[in-house]
Order: sequence, then C-alpha cells, then structure tokens
Amino acid sequence: MFRIETKEVLNDTIYRMGIVSPRVAKKARPGQFIMLRVDEAGERIPLTIAGTDPEKGIVDIIFQAYGTTTKKLCEKEAGDEIADFVGPLGKPTEIRGQKICVIGGGVGCAIALPIAREYASVGADVTCIIGFRSKNMVILEDEFRSFSRRVFVMTDDGSYGSTGNVCMPLKEMLEKGEDFDRIIAIGPLVMMRFVTETARPWGVPVSVSMNPIMIDGTGMCGGCRMTLKDEYGRPATVFACVDGPEFDGYQVDFDEVMTRGRMYADFERHSYEKTCNLFRAADQAKKEGC
Ligand SMILES: Cc1cc2nc3c(=O)[nH]c(=O)nc-3n(C[C@H](O)[C@H](O)[C@H](O)COP(=O)(O)OP(=O)(O)OC[C@H]3O[C@@H](n4cnc5c(N)ncnc54)[C@H](O)[C@@H]3O)c2cc1C
Ligand code: FES
Repeated sequence: MFRIETKEVLNDTIYRMGIVSPRVAKKARPGQFIMLRVDEAGERIPLTIAGTDPEKGIVDIIFQAYGTTTKKLCEKEAGDEIADFVGPLGKPTEIRGQKICVIGGGVGCAIALPIAREYASVGADVTCIIGFRSKNMVILEDEFRSFSRRVFVMTDDGSYGSTGNVCMPLKEMLEKGEDFDRIIAIGPLVMMRFVTETARPWGVPVSVSMNPIMIDGTGMCGGCRMTLKDEYGRPATVFACVDGPEFDGYQVDFDEVMTRGRMYADFERHSYEKTCNLFRAADQAKKEGC
C-alpha cells in the first residue's frame, strides 16, 4: 500500500497529492508517469509525475477529478493509502535546445510544469504559455513564474490574463521573429494539434505529450497504439507508454488518436454511473417516481 502524505486542492476539480514511494521518487525523470490503482478492485490509470522529493521519498501527482477512478482518488485524504503506484514509466523528456516555449492547457499544465522546470534548471531560456477556460480554473501560475523568463496566461472567457487561446501569443511571437529551438505543447488533443499547425510555417520543432488509453503501461497490451507518419507519409506504429509519451507533433496522426480516444466513452460513462453516488441517488429517485 502507498500512503498519501499530502493533499492540496488546486481548483474546483484539480488536486495535488504527495504519495510516499521512495523508489519512484529516486528514479523518476521529468516527462515520466506512474500507473496507479486506488483499491484492489479498481482500474489502473496513468498520471504524470509532477515533481519528486527524493530525500523524503515523495512523488507528486496532479490530477483532474474527471471519471470513476480520479473521483475515487480525490475522495482520499492525507494519511489514507492507495493500492498500487507503479513507475517510473515512459521515456523521460529529452532536453533539446536552449530557447524553449512550453505550452500547457488545463490539467496539461501539470504535465508541462516539470518539463519546463527541467529546461530552466539546465539554463535554458523558457517562455511559458498556460491556457484555461476561466479564472477559477487557473493552476500553477506562480510555479511557472518562479523559473520562466516570461509567462502568458490565457483564458477563453477573458476573466483572467489575456482573452483567447494559447496559439495567439505563440503566433504573435513567431511573427515578430522569435527564434525558439523547440515548442512543447501539452493539453487537450485539439490544442496540441493547433499548436503544431501554428508552428508549421516557421518549421519550429514541436513536441507533444500523448495521452491515449493505457492499460498496462509497459508495451504489452497494445491499448496505447498510435500511428506516426514521417515527412513522406510513411506510417509507423508506436506505443505511447514505452515509445513516448512525447512525440514529434508533425508526425502524430491526430485524426486516428481522436477517433480511438472516443471508442471507450460509453464504457466510461457506464462505469461512472455505477459508482457515482449522486447519479445513483438520482436514478433511485427516478425509479421511485420522485
Ligand atoms: C501518460 C499519461 C499521463 C497522464 N497524466 C495525467 C495527469 O498528470 N493528470 C491528469 O489529470 N490526467 C492525466 N492523464 C489522463 C488520466 O489518465 C485520465 O484522466 C484518467 O485515466 C481518467 O480516469 P477516470 O476513471 O477518472 O475517468 P474515465 O471516465 O474512465 O475517463 C475519462 C477520460 O480519461 C481518459 N482515460 C480513462 N482511462 C484511461 C487510461 N487507462 N489511460 C489513459 N487515459 C484514460 C480518457 O480520455 C477518458 O475519456 C494522463 C494520461 C496518460 C496516458
Ligand atoms: S498501455 Fe499497453 S501497450 Fe501501452
């Protein structure tokens, strides 16, 4: 069992937990993830390692309470235990380039933070763009500001920072001649796709962090299979859990990833309906004619 040492509420749906796992804390590198199970009967889900304290043996995870497992996890408190916490998995981020633009969208900022911090720690010039739907969803701004040269905060509704999406300041900087060595985009698929398309005319390398359904996280089940296409359109099959999760944005077949991501929507809704107390209560009330 793995003890939850700390729990912090970052916004209405996003939580940070420090989990005691000395072995993972010692070995983890930015860009890697863990697979956890909340209890013996639960499913395994992947979450990125958001930070580590090797001396205390603590690994930070930041997650959005979204469906069955993440909601079960957010109900746990400091001092409680979870059944499994396996890692570090996946390839660490390759540090390439000196002038970097890191872009995070929503909970993707949790994945972007350790990567941006690692670039800053080796002396890179780091610009960050973080985007959210609204002011009450903004997370980790101070942490990004603590090591970045510039941070742009964007909200869809303009309730905080500047109005609009993360591609807007990126395009403006590229148009003004900003010569980034690399852009790293982490967030919803549609955001990563648009960042890639925004950067394309300037040919700036783009890394994206892919989050397909993962079951074992070790390359055995094929659940996270994706297609990459090289510059001539030649396809290659990769597994996001062992070959990634970071890939060249220009090579990712976003249409395929989006279609595969929707395949399990009915199962996820069904699982949530079975476990969510609110849903069960409403269902019971309906049956009783209330
Ligand atoms: C490498 C990787 C790193 C991730 N890091 C983070 C993170 O740091 N913070 C965070 O909030 N989320 C992260 N995710 C997404 C996270 O795994 C899902 O939010 C979580 O699995 C949802 O499970 P659920 O039961 O709560 O929701 P469900 O209702 O079961 O699913 C909600 C959505 O989560 C995704 N999902 C569900 N099960 C899996 C699974 N086994 N593998 C991958 N995706 C799944 C699907 O897109 C699904 O539509 C990461 C995903 C991957 C692949
Ligand atoms: S999760 Fe099974 S092969 Fe990647």
